[in-house]
Amino acid sequence: MTHHNLRVPITFLSLLFALALQLPSQTTQTATDNLPYKDASLPVDQRVSDLLKRMTLEEKATMLAGSGWMESAPIPRLGIPAIKMADGPLGVRSWMGSSAITNAANAPKITSTSFPSGVAMAATWNTDLVQREGQAIAQETKALGRDMILGPTVNINRIPLWGRNFEGYGEDPYLAAQLGVAYIKGVQGEGVIPSVKHFAANNEEFERHRLDEKIDERALHEIYLPAFKAAVQQADVWTVMSAYEKVNGKYCAENDYLLTDILKNEFGFKGFVISDWASTYSTAPTVNAGMDLEMPGGPPLHAMLKRPQTIMSGNSGGWLEADKVLAEIKAGHITEATIDDNVGRILRVLILSGLMEHPHSPGGEVDTPEQRKIALEGATEGIVLLKNQNSLLPLDPVKIHSIAVIGPDALVARTGGGGSSLVRPDHAISPLEGIQKRVGSAIQVTSAPGVGMEGEDATHDTPEARAADLKQATDIASKADVAIIVVGRYNKNESEGFDVKTMDLPAGQDELIQAVEKANPHTVVVLNTGDPVTMSKWLDTTPALLDMWYGGQEGGNAIAAILFGDANPSGKLPVSLPRKFEDSPGAKTYPGQNLHTDYAEGIYVGYRYYDTKNVEPQFPFGFGLSYTTFEYSDLKLARITFAGKNPIWNFTINVRNTGQRSGADVVQLYVHDGHSKIDRPAHELKGFSRVELNPGESKTIELQLDNSAFQYWSPTTKQWTLDPGTFEIQVGASSRDIRLKAPVQIGR
Ligand code: BGC
Repeated sequence: MTHHNLRVPITFLSLLFALALQLPSQTTQTATDNLPYKDASLPVDQRVSDLLKRMTLEEKATMLAGSGWMESAPIPRLGIPAIKMADGPLGVRSWMGSSAITNAANAPKITSTSFPSGVAMAATWNTDLVQREGQAIAQETKALGRDMILGPTVNINRIPLWGRNFEGYGEDPYLAAQLGVAYIKGVQGEGVIPSVKHFAANNEEFERHRLDEKIDERALHEIYLPAFKAAVQQADVWTVMSAYEKVNGKYCAENDYLLTDILKNEFGFKGFVISDWASTYSTAPTVNAGMDLEMPGGPPLHAMLKRPQTIMSGNSGGWLEADKVLAEIKAGHITEATIDDNVGRILRVLILSGLMEHPHSPGGEVDTPEQRKIALEGATEGIVLLKNQNSLLPLDPVKIHSIAVIGPDALVARTGGGGSSLVRPDHAISPLEGIQKRVGSAIQVTSAPGVGMEGEDATHDTPEARAADLKQATDIASKADVAIIVVGRYNKNESEGFDVKTMDLPAGQDELIQAVEKANPHTVVVLNTGDPVTMSKWLDTTPALLDMWYGGQEGGNAIAAILFGDANPSGKLPVSLPRKFEDSPGAKTYPGQNLHTDYAEGIYVGYRYYDTKNVEPQFPFGFGLSYTTFEYSDLKLARITFAGKNPIWNFTINVRNTGQRSGADVVQLYVHDGHSKIDRPAHELKGFSRVELNPGESKTIELQLDNSAFQYWSPTTKQWTLDPGTFEIQVGASSRDIRLKAPVQIGR
């Protein structure tokens, strides 16, 4: 086609375009399709500003509040679709109502794959796997007709009793950041919208709608914000969910310091902020602080606001409904420019996710063999071998003829903690079922609950029933070659909405372990819980101990694979396990008084506290045994490269499998600063690498550090600061098993 020939259609098209602008936009499809905001070839910002110009103030105000329990407000006149959401983050949960309604046993099920809890995924230290999990969850989200998945959870495990510890990625900000970024990339890569949550510092459930947390700026920047910063700067995350509680006197939903100064200005966040469900308390202050979308909305919110439980718990909402927002604009308390910013952010995400082109992202599948395989890989790689005296594990199916499988978490699949993250799969494998499937008829498997799960079944709670349960358990244990006890909690006593009441195992479980160990010296204890538990009553006499966390629907298959050595344990603790609650750094101020709590430990959270203040945990951060052994050597600063003007220090380490089995190890790099002007933790994790090795094989791994690995956040200058000098690079297999050290000069 010549240039001359082109002229006619272009002129004709411009005429059509001009005509279209004069007509109501719904009259012809062609007219709408030619509007700049619909043109995928134009830059996002241009499309956003074009669309904003076409919206009335009323339409803009409408977009600030949800239209249903899990839907944002559509503007059909302009082809702006509703964003259809679902919880997250451990699979796709029913979006038909609150977890109290949809998690009930008799509620209609939305079947989707139940992935391992966040803390189990964190124990894999496998960013590639977490990214594939994010992708699989996004595909299920799309297939189920939803556009947005409410996760990942990246809040830090500060308090061992937090009811939602199972959901997040552990106690270390660097690890949580890397895994959060991986999850987000997996989700956004599918055109599905994630929501990194809860911004910021949702670290206990106690009075979560009223609690005011006093947190110093350094602790915020070094501990509670890095995972959100990475989500913005490394994954360009599309949405951030604010948290329920107050931080330094202001509700997170109207915290201008958090939402505007830090998230939007300092981190450069361009997406939209969404409120946690029913967590707003004002109109103008909330909008002006940087809240873009209040959820939920419409009739479900109004029904909720009328319930006495809502008032009792302290939920509140409906403040960003159009009439309230318009009244505040009229009164001069909110400017139209602010509303343009709010709406522009939502439009931006609608465009980036492709939802402006097609009101729902097409494609995806639910609960496929491939998705279940990812869930199984996560559950398996996340299991941590904590103790293995005389190599009791792995069990040799040739030498063993009988196994007794015991415990309140053995016969039932306890897939996850409770609340908005609980996914209800089509079928979940209990440890008993996994073991039976693994051994077939070759080994005799007997089973007994041993003790009723506290709070689950009153008929097991009487002294007589307890004695009978215990007797049955010790009887079968004494007759078997090996006893496997699976203890822990479940979604009714470890959940969103309240904290776990004690670090002790639920009633009768310590006694069960003690009695079974007496009946059979070849006893393996398996923990099935998200929070740490006290082990002092039995650990010394327990020959083998595994932590399987909540493993999702494949947990039972995963634990069977580890017990019999089909998979070599490679999970490493993403959280320190203290000996007792009182040893943990936040214990002194938990849960707070008069609805105030002070994060008095500052930056000394998790191993930063235990390793600096010399408090011995039961098991340290990063720890996990294997059926093989690994040796580290040759820690070197191989080269310095540059990203623009910024130096990158490239360290190499040689890792060798010195044992008899193939397996994976996680090499951890910590930085120690012995010279800085202010106090710093003994060391901080700044790099890690998961490496698979055959027996005798060795590999050289490379870990890269940039300036940020050496910086602290200065409360005086309110900036990230690097004090030049000699830092120590430490390489180890846990925060307390440092095997190689090397000095490095930085900034001179
Ligand atoms: C939780 C959020 C969740 C939301 C919607 C809230 O109670 O804190 O994590 O996404 O409910 O179910």
